[in-house]
Amino acid sequence: MEFSIKTLSPETAETGCIVLGVYAEKELTAPARRVDQRSKGALAAALADLSGKVGSTLLLRALPNVAAERVLLVSLGAREEFGETQYRDAVRAAASALRDLAAKDAALFLVDVKANSQPLSWNVRHAVLAAREAFYRFDELKSQKKSPAPSLGKVTLPLSADAQLEQALSEAEATADGADLARTLGNLPSNICTPTYLAEQAKKLAREFKLDVEVLERRDIEKLGMGAFLAVTKASREPPKLIVLRYDGAAKSKKPLAFVGKGITFDTGGISLKPAAEMDEMKFDMSGAGSVLGAIRALAGMKAPVNVVGIIPTCENMPGGAAIKPGDVVTTLSGQTVEILNTDAEGRLILCDALTYAERFKPDALVNVATLTGACVIALGHVATGLFANDQQLADELRAAAEEAWDRVWQMPLWEEYQEQLRSNFADFANIGGRPGGSITAASFLARFTRKQRWAHLDIAGTAWKSGREKGSTGRPVPLLVRFALRHAGRK
Ligand code: BES
Ligand code: MN
Ligand code: ZN
Repeated sequence: MEFSIKTLSPETAETGCIVLGVYAEKELTAPARRVDQRSKGALAAALADLSGKVGSTLLLRALPNVAAERVLLVSLGAREEFGETQYRDAVRAAASALRDLAAKDAALFLVDVKANSQPLSWNVRHAVLAAREAFYRFDELKSQKKSPAPSLGKVTLPLSADAQLEQALSEAEATADGADLARTLGNLPSNICTPTYLAEQAKKLAREFKLDVEVLERRDIEKLGMGAFLAVTKASREPPKLIVLRYDGAAKSKKPLAFVGKGITFDTGGISLKPAAEMDEMKFDMSGAGSVLGAIRALAGMKAPVNVVGIIPTCENMPGGAAIKPGDVVTTLSGQTVEILNTDAEGRLILCDALTYAERFKPDALVNVATLTGACVIALGHVATGLFANDQQLADELRAAAEEAWDRVWQMPLWEEYQEQLRSNFADFANIGGRPGGSITAASFLARFTRKQRWAHLDIAGTAWKSGREKGSTGRPVPLLVRFALRHAGRK
């Protein structure tokens, strides 16, 4: 799907479909009013069939005096309640309706409806992201594709083009490419998306976008002394990888951002085995890794003026004769020892060594992304990603980026008091802190490895994928990471 920004009038636009917004109580937006006037009230007459619920749609054909073949009406809900979420829902609904039409091109006259105080560039970005989200499909593993690929190829955003809007558009398209990559990596099952597969994907990105890539193998990881990472991978037949992918879009003298992503391609829990129900969803436990690859793809694709290094520890967490056992003590790359009281708290074990490794890149800021704790899902549900940081300015930058990207986060505390829960009688500390504040003690564990760095941790356990009928990866937090990097580079 290709987007372009171009001034158009709704009544004369030569396109397969024009999309018009209507508020509840049959209140027309300006372009809808124009079409209604030109068609001598044909639009208003049809409104009885459109519900006032946000995202309801109604398709009209061959309206008199209107050039476009079809008119798609989309309900925006009550005007007083219209905001960011409603805008995105309306665009997504319009895109879903367009997907199922034979239209080859369309013009989205919704794009200038004000969503609270957001600037037009916000509307452009989110029109692209929401539409691309609606068009995403993952059917590569079905022997028979359900429906033919959508024919909609061109979408016009009817606005008067300026440099800022054009930039918003190209940023959004690259971000959508990155989010699609993260979604597909997440959706692929663990028998295909192995650590080796993720490493291949990183190498492929490196070739395509001329990035630097290095993949450390088991013996390199051993030589470095990543005892915690090695403990997790012990019982797996799949070799572990430590992927380092670098995009340099700014001057070499500029310190990079480091993004560290949890890449557990399947989490059985190990000897602390998980229950069977919904265990399939633990193929999504590499979503942090997927989002780091997706974000780097996006930034490289848009040639963002920023330096980023992605660091991805990736392996499986399996039970077996060679597996680590509860009570085992390992030495991390930092030299600190850890008593592994629960082998299912493996994310923090692979991340702690990767976070120590990140020091060598002297990053300006270090952000790790991980499906780290079920407790975070209990705390924040599936709406907000958990944000933890040892530097409030960094937390504030991430919060602002999350609001702009509408890929929202909620900051959680990281006070010293929580460290007490990680006490161990046998090692420097344990890898679990009991049930109370489970997402916070997990973050507190990581904090012990990032004391020398400006660091933040995003717990995406509740936001990286959806369960149930709509089961599948969301591509979050690619939009947030991209926005954060762009803000960091001084982009508005
Ligand atoms: N990958 C899981 C976290 C998870 C669980 C994410 C469910 C999304 C849904 C992680 O490795 C894990 O198992 N964490 C344990 C930690 C516990 C043993 C302290 C958890 O959350 O139960
Ligand atoms: Mn686990
Ligand atoms: Zn896990």
